Amino acid sequence: MSDHSILSGKRVLLIIAGGIAAYKCLDLIRRLRERGCAVRAILTRAGAQFVTPLSVQALTGDTVYQDLWSLTDESEMGHIQLSRAADLLVVAPATANILARMAAGMADDLATTALLATDKPILVAPAMNVRMWLNPATQANMALLASRGVTSVGPNDGEMACNEYGPGRMAEPMEIIDAIADHFTAREAPKPLAGTRALVTSGPTHEPIDPVRYIANRSSGKQGHAIAAALARLGADVTLVSGPTRLPDPPGCTVTHIESARDMLAACEAALPVDVAVFAAAVADWRVKDAAERKLKKDGGGPPTLELCENPDILATVSKSARRPTLVVGFAAETGNVVAYAEAKRARKGCDWIVANDVSLGTQTFGGDANTVHLIRSDGAVEDWPTLDKDAVADRLAHTIADHLKGTAS
Ligand code: C5P
Repeated sequence: MSDHSILSGKRVLLIIAGGIAAYKCLDLIRRLRERGCAVRAILTRAGAQFVTPLSVQALTGDTVYQDLWSLTDESEMGHIQLSRAADLLVVAPATANILARMAAGMADDLATTALLATDKPILVAPAMNVRMWLNPATQANMALLASRGVTSVGPNDGEMACNEYGPGRMAEPMEIIDAIADHFTAREAPKPLAGTRALVTSGPTHEPIDPVRYIANRSSGKQGHAIAAALARLGADVTLVSGPTRLPDPPGCTVTHIESARDMLAACEAALPVDVAVFAAAVADWRVKDAAERKLKKDGGGPPTLELCENPDILATVSKSARRPTLVVGFAAETGNVVAYAEAKRARKGCDWIVANDVSLGTQTFGGDANTVHLIRSDGAVEDWPTLDKDAVADRLAHTIADHLKGTAS
């Protein structure tokens, strides 16, 4: 469980939309207030079908805001002020409808107007029927909101009010409180990388064969994206150069999307100078020497012969460049003799550290959520890290980088 003491004195603007889970918000308000958190509520018209303004008012001990056009509310508390006089906006339950309106930037009632006008962070607790949650429209809205920095808690799997089973149940009040506490803890954590510029590469590259075909690999980009997000959380100014992935852009990073290794090198060079660079991308070693400008045809003459040539090594190029970052970190995916091969790679490419991992069949590293890595430093010291999920590897690497840069600065 998270440390809830941080909630004392915080101000939450809770937006209660119209879902059956709205009843859980009454408990949420009570528990937040027990922890010293001031809660002010906006109840949407649909939300008021599920909980009464009177219950919300009794529990918040404050006016319940419902109407964009209420003169009293506007004179006492304008919607702009309402959305800014809080430390965090929480939308619970966040229905498919309110998420869609948020993603579209609509402002057609008090709740969406406050959400659009705010300069404060937003946390959503989605709650809806499982099909509505899994619908590509909702998933696309969530990805868009995440790329704009909106965070989320849940939904959980379970039995639904509509008798279906699956993801869609709103997170429990205590889970939402944990997420709120984690939000404030992260926000108030020291930012040891403030003022530091970082470059991260992530994902695979696509090397064209002709205008419609390409050579690629199975990299998901999960580890590289997590590293970019972790460095940004510690205050770094992060440029992420990403090959094609299915992931949303991590919050707080400037993202350049590229396809080929040559594009990735150009984007990395354009991002220099930086203090630290982490090369987590799975760059194709080879590309087709002369990619066809027109689609290759089956013309009866048998399959074409593809002549390959070597791609630039981005890690080695940046490590040897005149504008070399203070700290250059490479990755080594190996299928045996992991540490020995990785150390040789570190020396050959000229980077400072190398993060080595085993990608043998069965380890599920490629595309999976967990990673077992060894950090090899320039003096040959090897740290064996336990198996961690990729976010935890990223956090630990970001903190290790921060400690190192602090040491080199003093
Ligand atoms: O040689 P190998 O692909 O195993 O090296 C892995 C490391 O080198 C990773 O950090 C990867 O991002 C980087 N790399 C690169 N450019 C390449 C090939 C690999 O930056 N063309």
